[in-house]
Amino acid sequence: MTPRPISRRGALVLGGLGAASLVAGTTGLLAQNASTPGGLPAAGTTGEDLLEPPVLDSREGRLAIVLTAAPGARLAGRDNAALGYNGTSPGPTLRVRPGDDLAVRLTNRLDQPTNLHTHDLQVSPQGNSDNPFLRIDPGTSFDYLYRIPPDHPAGTFWYHPHHHGTVADQLFGGLAGALLVDRGPELPVAADRVLLITDTTLDADGRIVVAGPMDRMMGRQGRLVLVNGQHQPTIAASTGTVQRWRIINGCTSRVLPLRLPGQQLTQIMLDAAFLPGPAGPGRIVLAPGNRADILIRPDRAGRFELLTDAYDRGSTGTGGMMGGRDATSEPATLATLSVDGPPRQPPPLPASLPARTPNTDPVTARREITFAMGMGGSGMGFTIDGRTFDPQRDDQTVQLGSTEEWTITNASPLAHPFHLHIWPFTVLADSAGTPPTGTPQGVVLVPPRGWVRLRIPFTAHPGRSVYHCHILDHEDLGMMATINVRG
Ligand code: C2O
Ligand code: CU
Ligand code: CU
Repeated sequence: MTPRPISRRGALVLGGLGAASLVAGTTGLLAQNASTPGGLPAAGTTGEDLLEPPVLDSREGRLAIVLTAAPGARLAGRDNAALGYNGTSPGPTLRVRPGDDLAVRLTNRLDQPTNLHTHDLQVSPQGNSDNPFLRIDPGTSFDYLYRIPPDHPAGTFWYHPHHHGTVADQLFGGLAGALLVDRGPELPVAADRVLLITDTTLDADGRIVVAGPMDRMMGRQGRLVLVNGQHQPTIAASTGTVQRWRIINGCTSRVLPLRLPGQQLTQIMLDAAFLPGPAGPGRIVLAPGNRADILIRPDRAGRFELLTDAYDRGSTGTGGMMGGRDATSEPATLATLSVDGPPRQPPPLPASLPARTPNTDPVTARREITFAMGMGGSGMGFTIDGRTFDPQRDDQTVQLGSTEEWTITNASPLAHPFHLHIWPFTVLADSAGTPPTGTPQGVVLVPPRGWVRLRIPFTAHPGRSVYHCHILDHEDLGMMATINVRG
């Protein structure tokens, strides 16, 4: 196989001095490396068998682990390239069940603050639970305790750092892992795999490239798209069997439209919710933070490529100080499915899936929220309702037990993925006319100059948390706000 480096349309190199000084004025990033040298594809590992991170499984209602965030992990076939948890990137896969306690001692051996976020887990946002306001300083440890409710949905989640200002760098550096909540139904699968997709850029010495100001504004997209930290691995399968792939978009900014030509991708879950029935062969488009659980059912031998298509997140237009940059990602091969065996029909798909009954409580409040990028007095700002993130301020105060309808408007020419912690929402409609799935989710793309309308039941878990753009560069630049759910 030939390695396929991902080249980007000039988005890596800082354009004009005007843009540079503009960003320096707002974010103070000028001291950093403004241009990013070309990364080399990790040809040495391309085509290797897919590896899966070690699984740490709960026992008797509890999973108690240490997670150490530190440099020195292997990534894309390069030793010591990445940041890792317990020495690997991705970190271990955590496997728990509804009703379990998940106890994590997070130890920070990085040179900057970090913390831990259990993306979409429906747990308390307070204290030492899924609290995004915590700051774990270098050289210190912190004991998290997540009490997973007995009625918590099963599905595919993930964990990543969430200390405001350092999130994109730490994720791009390799800090992420899968988190599975296990509970029926039993699906007749021969393999149940995690495919955690991330992207990064390595320099010629195999070090992670520092993103420049323009990368941060557009949302950095790495030259290498990796699956479980590997470049274009091979996934083995036998004819007549079914595999479940839990695909996690752990990229900092990249949207992943997925395809597997010659095979059907049958989607059974979006984020951590079963769809009402198996869906295919529709287009699966994962925004950063989204997950799709899919079934693969090969009936003949062959090699099939799992692809991500190009995706256009919009453009800053032709005029102005940003010089009309676009945020298009190039297509890439993620992995190769290698099927062996005589022609054989796999077991049939389940006729229906245990989708949860949709919440039909009356809407008690409506809110309008606006994502914007704009020139302020001091430069380009990434705002929600005209303000950048302030952890001290309550931006939305919500009554526990209420069900709300939120309209998220995007006043900017770039798409932004909206994410709300703790409280999943269902999409009612969007400006692009996307047919809603009717099932709860945690991240949704808000089209450029468009809107989405969401229904959010705040039935449990009082406390303060956040909503933000899941292009994590934008989140770090201030596109995040707080919500206080009062019990
Ligand atoms: Cu996956 Cu607030 O993030
Ligand atoms: Cu999250
Ligand atoms: Cu954004």
